[in-house]
Amino acid sequence: MEQNTSIEQLRIPETLEGESAADFLRAVEVSRLVRLHTWGNDELAYTAEELLAQCHDPYEWYVVLVARRDGVIVGRAGIALPLDDNTELAHVTLDVLPSAEGRGLGRKVLEAAELFVRGENRKIVVVETNHPAATLENNAPEEEQVLAAEGSGTLPLSSREARFAYSAGYELERVEQFSSLTLPLSEVLAAELTAKAKATHNSSYAVHQWLDTCPERWAGEIVRLEQGLGTDDGGTPETWDLAKLREAEELSALTGRRTMVSAAECLESGALVGFTSISILGHRTDVAFQDETIVEVPHKGKDVGLHIKVANMELLMREFPATRTIYTWNSPVNSYMLSVNRQLGYVSAGVTGQWRKDFNALR
Ligand SMILES: CC(C)(COP(=O)(O)OP(=O)(O)OC[C@H]1O[C@@H](n2cnc3c(N)ncnc32)[C@H](O)[C@@H]1OP(=O)(O)O)[C@@H](O)C(=O)NCCC(=O)NCCS
Repeated sequence: MEQNTSIEQLRIPETLEGESAADFLRAVEVSRLVRLHTWGNDELAYTAEELLAQCHDPYEWYVVLVARRDGVIVGRAGIALPLDDNTELAHVTLDVLPSAEGRGLGRKVLEAAELFVRGENRKIVVVETNHPAATLENNAPEEEQVLAAEGSGTLPLSSREARFAYSAGYELERVEQFSSLTLPLSEVLAAELTAKAKATHNSSYAVHQWLDTCPERWAGEIVRLEQGLGTDDGGTPETWDLAKLREAEELSALTGRRTMVSAAECLESGALVGFTSISILGHRTDVAFQDETIVEVPHKGKDVGLHIKVANMELLMREFPATRTIYTWNSPVNSYMLSVNRQLGYVSAGVTGQWRKDFNALR
């Protein structure tokens, strides 16, 4: 690394006002510029408010390292250390400005993050790389592809990010599809898809919707669904209970995040059999994110997922008419959810690679 560069831990400010927040805001801007460079837009960038709230999340300790060149912040690593579940691992988000790339800074910041993580007795580091669809079109020969440990996904070593993670000793765990949909969804299409779903399941399900706070009536049911199943939009089930549901809702409210949920009730049993949620980050309403979708196995194949997803999209458009894009991530092997998304008009935006380094496995 060059002489005029340094890495240090960022002091997290109490508020975003004043001189004490200047470095924090600059680190947020570095991340925004890196996303702008990768995607051609900053829709996937965190707002400063969202990141500040993340730094005060009671379930996750969030540490930021910054890299300076000639005193100016040109790179950063966000280190998320879960405090409740998954206490053996840490997620690291690494960003180096394109103007500072290729000088060993990324490697140094990652090494500093790993040192920090190991000092906290964590055994596993997880990092992500992002690849717009256009950058993956030219299929590289087999020997230049990294094969994911789970599923059948691959990433080409011609990708600078994939090469970076690979040569830093990370193993490609899985590759997720990443799709986007331009809103508004046509009213005609929404009506057609809803009619199709109702015809498939013979109107055997009722849809219930809410914003931000789950009604008392359904809270126990949502917890049961979260506990019992993996998610159809990816992710791992965690130990979940009513207190956690309410705490998560309170935390979202603090960050300004808004959440829309549509759930399906089986009219025969009166039980919820699935739900889907969409969120909007604090302080920006132009972009929305499709969060998890769960449909219990016995109710799959009846267009329940399609029904609640369309209903939730309609709720989103009613509540936030300014939203222009919605993003979703799926495992490439989740053909059920991919087919639902195709019907809604989602198109592939790219893939996300999830990589991990297990210090226990290192000699
Ligand atoms: C991936 C990323 C962090 C790399 O940052 P960087 O500062 O360019 O990384 P480095 O300079 O340490 O390493 C990049 C390459 O430069 C090479 N390099 C290292 N020191 C060098 C030096 N002094 N001179 C020239 N090249 C050097 C490295 O060997 C590496 O080559 P490789 O890709 O063939 O392995 C950066 O491009 C980025 O922010 N990308 C977008 C976000 C992202 O994907 N983050 C997750 C990464 S896991």
